[in-house]
Amino acid sequence: MIPPRYYSACLLLFLLLLSTSLSQSHRAAKKKRMREKVRNMFHHAYDNYMTHAFPHDELKPLTKTFTDSLVELGNLKLERLPQDYNGSALSLIESLSSLVIMGNDTEFEKGVRWLSENLTFDVDARINLFECNIRVLGGLVSAHLLASDSSKNLLKGSYKNQLLGLAEDLGKRFLPAFDTPTGLPYAWVNLKVKLSVLKLAYSKTICVIASNFQLCAGSLILEMGALSIMTGDPRYESVALRALRKLWSMQSSLKLFGTTLDVSTGKWIEHSAGIGAGVDSFYEYLLKAHILFGKEDYWRMFHSAYVAVQKHFRHGPWYHEADMRTGRATYWQLTSLQAFWPGLQVLIGDIPAANSSHREFFHVWKQFGVLPERYLLDHQMLHPTEKYYPLRPEFAESTFYLYQATKDPWYIEVGELIVNSLNLYTRVEGGFASIKDVTTMQLEDHQHSFFLAETCKYLYLLFDDSFMLESNYVFTTEGHPLPVLSTWHEELPEAYIPTNWTNLKRPRRASAMSLQVCPAMTLDSGQHIESACHIPDVRSDYKCLTDEDCGVDSITCRRRSCSMAGYCGLWLFL
Ligand SMILES: *[C@@H]1O[C@H](CO)[C@@H](O)[C@H](O)[C@H]1NC(C)=O
Ligand SMILES: *[C@@H]1O[C@H](CO)[C@@H](O)[C@H](O)[C@H]1NC(C)=O
Ligand SMILES: *[C@@H]1O[C@H](CO)[C@@H](O)[C@H](O)[C@H]1NC(C)=O
Ligand SMILES: *[C@@H]1O[C@H](CO)[C@@H](O)[C@H](O)[C@H]1NC(C)=O
Ligand SMILES: *[C@@H]1O[C@H](CO)[C@@H](O)[C@H](O)[C@H]1NC(C)=O
Repeated sequence: MIPPRYYSACLLLFLLLLSTSLSQSHRAAKKKRMREKVRNMFHHAYDNYMTHAFPHDELKPLTKTFTDSLVELGNLKLERLPQDYNGSALSLIESLSSLVIMGNDTEFEKGVRWLSENLTFDVDARINLFECNIRVLGGLVSAHLLASDSSKNLLKGSYKNQLLGLAEDLGKRFLPAFDTPTGLPYAWVNLKVKLSVLKLAYSKTICVIASNFQLCAGSLILEMGALSIMTGDPRYESVALRALRKLWSMQSSLKLFGTTLDVSTGKWIEHSAGIGAGVDSFYEYLLKAHILFGKEDYWRMFHSAYVAVQKHFRHGPWYHEADMRTGRATYWQLTSLQAFWPGLQVLIGDIPAANSSHREFFHVWKQFGVLPERYLLDHQMLHPTEKYYPLRPEFAESTFYLYQATKDPWYIEVGELIVNSLNLYTRVEGGFASIKDVTTMQLEDHQHSFFLAETCKYLYLLFDDSFMLESNYVFTTEGHPLPVLSTWHEELPEAYIPTNWTNLKRPRRASAMSLQVCPAMTLDSGQHIESACHIPDVRSDYKCLTDEDCGVDSITCRRRSCSMAGYCGLWLFL
């Protein structure tokens, strides 16, 4: 006979198993329900755009009209707007990859056909190079890669690379912007104007407007590099790389960058920088270029820049701004654009740092119901004017990455809260409207195209990542997926090719999409890969006076501290 106490132990075990499997199926049901909720949001936004705004650029959801905003992006003072521009179907281009991810092949095909037949860039319109690159060129390149992926079989009719043709046409129109003394591109380019005219007209332009000059210099390489590989025309990659290298050469002795410079002289104008607006996708693109193209050089640049960021901008879970020359803290502000940073840290496997920053952003989100554009950390209050929330994706994006890496159901709860806030505060009959002031939740008549390209996409992927299981993707800074292909990785040792990472003996700590390098590891080939989170101690003999002298551990990615005896180590965890 089995003694009674074993019965109860068995019963307990049984109940435990039952409750885990119940909670698992409960979770699966919840994810499915949330996925459908996000799909519904996307279609509400998309259908309203198609009905009231297409083929203009973006929807005005309150008045159910449109705005031809491609020429307004980054153009804060709305200068030199064209008289005769009727839009470029911007929100449709931005929606294409989301349609594929959500499994709407018919609507994707409809969009591809319309663009193939009707889109032209031969318009007299001055556009912001960075914005047009990430939204339009990136959208087209990504949609082309998806459309031409025969394993996906998305199109019923034939596909003759029309989207690639459009992308190439646009890429050619970008080229004159790079004809500057420094190789750093002008912020603006007229799609129609010929080179010489452009030179005359913009010779005094500073690559800054929209406060994202580095973006014009540093964040082109994914889209332009992919375009070069696909067309066989090396010019796109070459100009983007030249600009990137020029920018790289302008780092300070602390390996930091400013945010604004004059492209004709190549001198810095604004020396304060952080990880938010102006710089964010610069770091992002160095790492993602390494993943996509496999070149070692990108990794070296990224790693050195990342270490400098962790050293000079990080303050606990927060990041402040600092002067690139001295490292002295300048602004103690949280901006909603910074919220992408934890997602980037997930890609390199720095989960502890990603998790702790993400929690702080979540804290602010809960406090206001959404993430305000700018929050003053030193005063623990909202920025007096930048109180808006334009439906930005960055917090959802980081939540998605962290869930991918950890599968911690807590992130699903965060996603649910984001979805509920968006529906509660921003959904209107005519779409989704930006919030003008998070204290009053007053709305603004604008549905940005990135809501379709990114916000809805990352939320959907949080609840259903089946798209990610088929192959490895890198998402551009605008959320457009580019497949990681071994044929694009010619110069890499085999072991670097992500499909081959199962050969590695060490457990993988982050998501399947990544080429994360934390902890540091030695490959079978004997090659050593440095951990991205590793920050060496100030002294090579590990001696220290204060915690400031200690770095970040390469295995755990945790900050080392200074012991009573004067040595750096992970003392807290021993
Ligand atoms: C834009 O629309 C207006 C009004 O429909 C039309 O007169 C104009 O020709 C269009 N411009 C272009 C470049 O097609
Ligand atoms: C695809 O999108 C169109 C337009 O929003 C919609 O009418 C249709 O129901 C969608 N189909 C699927 C399978 O979601
Ligand atoms: C291109 O635009 C015209 C005019 O709006 C429209 O009739 C036609 O159907 C469009 N082409 C495609 C393939 O959708
Ligand atoms: C994130 O941080 C919280 C709070 O410190 C902790 O409870 C949680 O386990 C962490 N999650 C991961 C995935 O590291
Ligand atoms: C994976 O790597 C091993 C050696 O590290 C190599 O022999 C093999 O060909 C690689 N496979 C692929 C698909 O790259």
